[in-house]
Amino acid sequence: MHPHHLKPAVRLLGAAFVIAAAVGLMGQYGGAPEWWIADSGERMPLSAPFEDKTGFVVVYNANGEMVTKDHAFFTPMGTNGRACITCHQMSAGMSVTTERLQERWGVTAGQDAVFAAVDGSNCPSLPQSDRASHSLLLERGVFRIAQPWPAPGVTPEFSVEVVRDPTGCNTSEKYGLHAKSPMISVYRRPRPVGNLKYLADGNAFTADSRNTSLEMQAIDAVHTHEQGANLTAAELKQIVDYERQVYVGQTFDRVGGDLTEVGGPEGLGVWHLGRGKPSHSTDASFVTIANWKGRSSESAFRSSVERGSLLFSQRKFSITDTANLDHSTTHTAMQGTCATCHSEHMTGANTTQPWMDIGTASLPWAGDQKDLPLFKITCNANAEPHPGLGRVIYTNDPGRALVTGKCRDVGSLVIQQLRGLAARAPYFTAGSAKDLRAVVDFYDKRYAAHYTEQEKQDLINFMSVL
Ligand code: HEC
Ligand code: HEC
Repeated sequence: MHPHHLKPAVRLLGAAFVIAAAVGLMGQYGGAPEWWIADSGERMPLSAPFEDKTGFVVVYNANGEMVTKDHAFFTPMGTNGRACITCHQMSAGMSVTTERLQERWGVTAGQDAVFAAVDGSNCPSLPQSDRASHSLLLERGVFRIAQPWPAPGVTPEFSVEVVRDPTGCNTSEKYGLHAKSPMISVYRRPRPVGNLKYLADGNAFTADSRNTSLEMQAIDAVHTHEQGANLTAAELKQIVDYERQVYVGQTFDRVGGDLTEVGGPEGLGVWHLGRGKPSHSTDASFVTIANWKGRSSESAFRSSVERGSLLFSQRKFSITDTANLDHSTTHTAMQGTCATCHSEHMTGANTTQPWMDIGTASLPWAGDQKDLPLFKITCNANAEPHPGLGRVIYTNDPGRALVTGKCRDVGSLVIQQLRGLAARAPYFTAGSAKDLRAVVDFYDKRYAAHYTEQEKQDLINFMSVL
């Protein structure tokens, strides 16, 4: 899929250039497998380019080439054959894509460790050899996240009812809300394991921030996704050290050319990521793009990216009914831009205001997503209501409220970083936006931004080079 409208001849030229550039990149930096199998013992090069939707994403190890044999990120630490790398694949910007999961399903007849019953299927109680039992992973790229309900030590301000249970897991006698150990199952995209140095200060990992450090997240991942026991201190350190030096960023665009050439915009590409310091700003786009020219075939696209970056940081709309937009006050509406929330330099995440509810999980904004569970949340009369949705909320993921038990937190999700987007569709926690256009369309409607067609394309092009 090209987000650009080009004449076929130009496209052909572009393709020739891509191949040349790819050979160049590969030659220079060495390759890594498109699908990394745990424990394969492959060498992880200093950096590895992978073709994606609009060009190339690069995964870069600031500490240099490494041996992955016996490395805890690349080796199964549990019992189901998965390692961290299984669900945080380099070719997918350290996440997974539905295209490659479908390929793996075909190649391995559904036997790849990524499809493990525990969370790589809609519910472990389903017949595991049926493709349909893994439809949420194959069609949305989401894994099952099961959490105890209520969270230990929390008295929730609301009750939860399962209105619709297409996977059977939330009503299951073994895994559901009324099981001996009651659980809620939600379905979520793997968040990219890259550029985490910048997110580490925010202390908010995963969509509901149940883990507040990389250490906690690694321990949790081994217990749940890998069905393993405790990591040793050395293994834990190895994982976290690796996570703090691996970077992901788009580096080459099929139409826009080399994103990292000398004199190009500061902040694009992956090399820059390791060097810049984390910082926070709501008045500027998180990467600066100005006067970006190039050969004639590149310049129209580059100008569009430049306009997109300005739209992202300057084009205002009314941010309304948004819970946790501001933790310090109760105000829930303001004039703002994309960068009001995606404010962190280098990543576009937000470490000061990590979770909020923009409506991606709950009705009406999320729309009726029939393949996902639907919960009815009824808040106590004396609970502080959700500012946009009140005290009765229909949601496919209670988000932060699974941890806090608070009515106002229902549907609040931790904002993602925006690097390497072209490599890791679909977007949003539930994988509900199939491409970047769907993301822009969501915001256009949600906050009545009234973008023109050109503005939409500019935003899409901007996001595709990050
Ligand atoms: C079965 C697939 C799977 C495996 C295996 C896996 N993860 Fe993840 N990872 C996920 C999913 C899904 C999420 C998002 C969870 C959520 O939002 O609740 C995630 C989130 C994360 C995050 C949070 C990033 C952020 O920005 O919030 C980190 C860090 C992470 N994983 C590290 C690891 C490590 C380390 C391992 C190995 C010990 C690992 N993962 C193994 C699927 C996986
Ligand atoms: C009010 C705060 C807010 C504003 C304004 C906002 N975002 Fe977001 N953004 C979020 C949150 C929160 C999420 C996580 C939602 C989810 O995971 O379901 C998100 C997620 C995303 C994602 C998905 C990333 C991924 O890895 O899946 C993209 C892309 C994105 N936003 C782009 C934009 C663009 C473009 C704009 C401006 C048109 C914008 N955002 C405006 C808060 C905001």
